[in-house]
Amino acid sequence: MISTRLQWFADARFGMFIHWGLYSVTGRGEWIFNRERWEMQDYTMLAEQFTAEDYDPKTWAKIARDAGMRYAVLTTKHHEGFCLWDSKTCAFNAVNSAAKRDLVGEYVTAFREAGLKVGFYYSLGDWYNEDWARGFNGDEAAYHRFMQYTRDLLTELMTQHGQIDILWYDLPQCYTALQWQAVDLNHHIRNLQPDILINNRAYTSEDFSTPEQHITAAPSGRLWESCMTLNNHWGYCPHDDNYKTASQVVLNLAQVASGGGNLLLNVGPTPQGKIPQPAIDILKQTGNWLRQNGKSIYEASDRHGLSFNLWGPVTSSCNDMYLHLKNYWGNEIIIGGLNPNVKQAFLLSTKQPLKVARRKHQTILSGLPTQSPDELITVIHLELDGKPEQDISRVIGKADIFPILTD
Ligand code: GLC
Repeated sequence: MISTRLQWFADARFGMFIHWGLYSVTGRGEWIFNRERWEMQDYTMLAEQFTAEDYDPKTWAKIARDAGMRYAVLTTKHHEGFCLWDSKTCAFNAVNSAAKRDLVGEYVTAFREAGLKVGFYYSLGDWYNEDWARGFNGDEAAYHRFMQYTRDLLTELMTQHGQIDILWYDLPQCYTALQWQAVDLNHHIRNLQPDILINNRAYTSEDFSTPEQHITAAPSGRLWESCMTLNNHWGYCPHDDNYKTASQVVLNLAQVASGGGNLLLNVGPTPQGKIPQPAIDILKQTGNWLRQNGKSIYEASDRHGLSFNLWGPVTSSCNDMYLHLKNYWGNEIIIGGLNPNVKQAFLLSTKQPLKVARRKHQTILSGLPTQSPDELITVIHLELDGKPEQDISRVIGKADIFPILTD
C-alpha cells in the first residue's frame, strides 16, 4: 500500500516540465554559460532582455490541464543561478530583471487554481555564486557559506508560496549526498513542507527516481518519473523543430503507464513567456486523445511484462488489458500466447465491439475498421477472465526467445 502523501504522484501519469531562465533569451539552451565560456558580468546583462511581457501562467496552466497533465515542475533556479522568484538572499533574480515580477509566485497561484500540483526544480550547483564558481579547493569557509546560501534559498522557496508538492533537485554529479548535507537539508525541507515529494538528485533516494530521456521502470514499489524534452532542447530553442509527434507522446505515456511511472514532458518558453506554438499544438492533440482514451493510461498502472508483440505498448489493470496500436494493420490482430480468455473486446474510443476467436495459442481479434479510427493511436480494450499473462514459451521454443526491439 502506498502512503496518502505519495498517492497523487503514483496516479498522476503526466506532468509538465518548464525550463525558463535567462538562457531562454539566447535560444540556445540552458548550458550556454558553461559551454560558450561566458563571463558572469556579460551573462547577467541578459536579464535586461528577459521581459516576461507575455507571461500569463494561467494560460500555461490551461495548456497543461487541457493536455491531460496533472502537475508541473518549474525551474525556479537553473545552473545559471538566476532566481525566478523575489529572493532576499540573491539579487540576481526576476524582480531585478526586465520582468520585474515574482514569476514563481504567479506560477504557483495559477497552477493551483487550475487544480494542478506544483513542483519546483532547483539546481544545487550555481554558476552565479562566487564560492561555487571558484570551487572550494579546501576552503572550508567558502563551502559553509555556499551551504548556507543553498539552505536560505530553499527556505525561501519552501515558505514564500504556500504548499509545494515536489522539490526537484538537479546537478549533484560533482558532489556526494554527504557533501550536500542532503539528509539534513531534506529534513529541514520536510519540516517546512511535510507533504512534499523530493526526487533523488541530491544523491539520497527520497521519494522517486528520475530517468532522463528514456523510459526505464524502477523496481516494483518504487515511484519513478521519466523526464523528456519535446524537441531536443530543455531551454527555448526556436531553431529546433525536431519535435516529438503527439503519437510518440501517447506511446511514451502508454510505456510509462505499463511500468507504473509518470512522464514529465518539457516545454521551453520564450524570454517573453510564451510556450512555443508547436509545443502547444502537440500538447493539445495529446489532450484530445487522452479525453477519449485516457482510461488506458490513467486507470491502468499494473506493472507487467506483456511486451511480446509487434503492434505496440500494452497497459493493464486487474483483468483489463489495453493494446496501443502503434502499427495499425486494419482488420485483424493476433495476440500470441495470451493465457486468459477474452470475455469482451472493443475499441476504446468508439466502443465498437470486435470479434474474438481462439486458435491454439493465438487469440484472434477481428472486425477492426480498415483505417485507424483514431487520428493518433487506436486502443483495443480487452476484458479478460483472469489477469493478463502471456505464455510465450508455448508458442516458440525457449531457446528462440529474444527481446523484441520496440524502437
Ligand atoms: C539535463 C540537463 C539539464 C536539465 C536536466 C533536466 O541534466 O543538463 O540542463 O535541466 O537534464 O532533467
